[in-house]
Amino acid sequence: MANITFLSPSLRDKVVLNVAPEEGRTLLSVMSEHHLREACCGKAQCGSCAVKIVPQRSDAASRPVVLSAKEKHALLKSRKLSWPEFDAKSLNDAPALWRLACQYVIRDEPILVAF
Ligand code: FES
Repeated sequence: MANITFLSPSLRDKVVLNVAPEEGRTLLSVMSEHHLREACCGKAQCGSCAVKIVPQRSDAASRPVVLSAKEKHALLKSRKLSWPEFDAKSLNDAPALWRLACQYVIRDEPILVAF
């Protein structure tokens, strides 16, 4: 189970969900299912689903994250990614990294999602 904690000024309190990581299940699908954020394009085009992901594992050494070209372009367009980050082949997930919820596939690990 993936333990996902959602924090947002739009929420009265944090929302904690335990989600079964299914093949290709995205964070946006979970957020839509629980009315935390409505799906927009779902194709890494609009950038409106950008969220900050904070890994919650105790062994949270930063690890390389490879973003797709589409995700990089959408995050750059919405000013969530800098040019040096855009040019990098991979990024570290610590400190928290902006990601597109429609492209983030749920894994069996705890994360904090800020939006
Ligand atoms: S929903 Fe449009 S970029 Fe994710």
